[in-house]
Amino acid sequence: MSRQIAVIVGSLRKDALSRKIAQHLIDTAPKGLKLNIVEIGELPLYNEDLDTKTPPKAWVDFRNAVKQADGVLFVTPEYNRSVPGALKNAIDVGSRPYGASAWNGKPGAVVSLSQGAIGGFGANHHLRQMLVFLDVLPLQQPEIYLGSIQKALDENGHVADEGVRSLLAGFLKRFEHWVATHSAAHELARAS
Ligand SMILES: Cc1cc2nc3c(=O)[nH]c(=O)nc-3n(C[C@H](O)[C@H](O)[C@H](O)COP(=O)(O)O)c2cc1C
Repeated sequence: MSRQIAVIVGSLRKDALSRKIAQHLIDTAPKGLKLNIVEIGELPLYNEDLDTKTPPKAWVDFRNAVKQADGVLFVTPEYNRSVPGALKNAIDVGSRPYGASAWNGKPGAVVSLSQGAIGGFGANHHLRQMLVFLDVLPLQQPEIYLGSIQKALDENGHVADEGVRSLLAGFLKRFEHWVATHSAAHELARAS
C-alpha cells in the first residue's frame, strides 16, 4: 500500500534548490510512499476576515489537499534564520478555521537546506516548533540539514553527491516507517 504524502516546498522561485531536492525525494521514494507537491505560491495572505463560509478557493483547495494526505513533508530553505514567509502563510491557511486544522495528527518530516554551511537549521527548528502546536508528528531522526546544497547537484539539477543521495535514501526509509507507524492515530485524528 502506498501512502499519500503532501510535499510543501518553502521557496517560490522557479529554479529553487529546494524544489530540486523535493523532486529527488519524489523520484526516489520507496514503494510505501507516493509524494506529490502541493503548491503554496498562489495562496492569498491569511486574513481572518476572508475566512467566511466562502473562503478563497485557493485556500479551500490547499486545505483539502493537505487533509487528504496521509502525511506531510516540508522541504524548505532558510530565510533570515526562519522559514520563508510563503511557507508560514501556508501553515496558517492550513491551520484554520479554528477547530478544523488540516494538519491535525499527521505524521511529518522536515528537510531544510541552504547554500551556506548551516543547512537551514534555524528554519528547520522554527518549523518544528510550529509542528508541535499543530499536532504534526515530525520524524525525529535522521534530522536533515543540507548545507552547501548547490555543490551536491549536477548541471541538470540532479543530486549527484553520493553522500547526500545515501542520506536522503535512509531518511525516506525511516519516514516510510514513521508514516506507517502513525497511520492509525492519524485516521482517528482525521475522523474527529
Ligand atoms: C530573503 C532571503 C533570506 C535568506 N536568509 C538566509 C538565512 O537566514 N540562512 C541561510 O543559510 N541562507 C539564507 N538565504 C539564502 C538561501 O538559503 C538560498 O538562497 C537558497 O538557495 C534559497 O532556497 P531556494 O534555492 O530553494 O530558493 C536567504 C535568501 C533570501 C532570498
